[in-house]
Amino acid sequence: ARNAPAPVTVEPVSTAPPAPELFTWEFATDPYPAYAWLREHSPVHRTRLPSGVEAWLVTRYGDAKQALADQRLSKNPANHAGSAHAKGKTGIPGERSADLMTHLLNIDPPDHTRLRRLVSKAFTPRTVAEFAPRVQELTDQLIDRFEGRGSADLIHEFAFPLPIYAICDLLGVPREDQDDFRDWAGMMIRHGGGPRGGVARSVKKMRNYLAELIHRKREDLGEDLISNLIRASDHGEHLTENEAAAMAFILLFAGFETTVNLIGNGVYALLRNPGQRGRLQEALAGGDTELLATGVEELLRYDGPVELATWRYATEALTLGGQEIGEGDPVLVVLAAADRDPERFQDPDSLDLSRRDNQHLGYGHGIHYCLGAPLARLEAQTALATLLTRLPDLRLAVESDDLRWRGGLIMRGLRTLPVEFGSVP
Ligand code: HEM
Repeated sequence: ARNAPAPVTVEPVSTAPPAPELFTWEFATDPYPAYAWLREHSPVHRTRLPSGVEAWLVTRYGDAKQALADQRLSKNPANHAGSAHAKGKTGIPGERSADLMTHLLNIDPPDHTRLRRLVSKAFTPRTVAEFAPRVQELTDQLIDRFEGRGSADLIHEFAFPLPIYAICDLLGVPREDQDDFRDWAGMMIRHGGGPRGGVARSVKKMRNYLAELIHRKREDLGEDLISNLIRASDHGEHLTENEAAAMAFILLFAGFETTVNLIGNGVYALLRNPGQRGRLQEALAGGDTELLATGVEELLRYDGPVELATWRYATEALTLGGQEIGEGDPVLVVLAAADRDPERFQDPDSLDLSRRDNQHLGYGHGIHYCLGAPLARLEAQTALATLLTRLPDLRLAVESDDLRWRGGLIMRGLRTLPVEFGSVP
């Protein structure tokens, strides 16, 4: 009996490594191996999100681009089969005007077309270029505060305040109120997905403030974006006051944590790739800004801020990447996975600041393509160029393994980025 063969269990033959676990701590730290697996083995993948919602993850570049432009995929959460407002047929009085949710990222044409047209002028590269001196001034003021120090947390002391002050200026939030905004936004970014009470309170404070600001501006119109929105609503452009408030809200939101993370992830990627960082520093010292421009696009592709969730809902059954998607199913286009697809990008896992063939999806694609892209580019280019020029010996103050990533569903970014540097000129 001692020599009896061990019982044999027949395993199904499988050459593929097992499916990776998603949404774990390891995943938040480095999701790219999991994305590589999904692209290869299950490119349109059904999963249960931490919230319990079942959704499809789209990870190949070709499928992602197609999905982003597919009008059968609605942005309106009322089209989610699991939504309380299933099919948007609830007819609840005031449903559409009750809160700040009727904004660009939650609506479809024709409302989307109308509202986007109203704000698009404020975000053309030309309008945004007029804002460049102010962004430079803000950037320098933040770095001035590092004088006589030698270390800082680049997320909280730099990447975080810069976009919030910039967007407040653009909207016309008076300077003396901007620190309140910074605090509310800080609450949301720190606890997004965490304690809901604090976040809800911050959203409420921001909503009340915006409503009051719109009233005040109505009495005294200026040259800012909120004043322009009020003018539009007053001139028969069919913009309700609620839509104006929702617009201000989404501009803050869409333009804030994204830019924090573009700067944070970008600086981190540069510090981890000294060869690339050296090239950029040399180019900047020689007054050449071309590498800065291609470099910021590459940083977006390589480790962009919008990771996982550009939510959409199927308004009818459809096939995507060979996979049947049911009516009402949520579809999440995983931009970070698409932007590392070897079918589209050469050597996708390396950072190449001079990459030219770089039509990444970091700003999305189609009618919801990022409205603020010119502003984001301006802020990121100014931030990185000024940091590398004024703090040429910038270095990480901790080991990479000790950094913590904020594991959210939408954004990919660092909680803190402790750095060291020499004297600040
Ligand atoms: C839309 C990324 C900065 C305003 C989007 C979308 C992406 C994106 C991926 C499309 C989402 C989808 O299709 O579901 C980024 C990144 C940024 C950034 C990576 C920074 C690095 C900004 C800034 C602003 C802004 C600074 C404005 C101040 C918007 C708005 C939309 C949008 C309003 C909605 C557009 C629409 O639905 O028509 N952004 N964004 N974004 N972004 Fe950005």
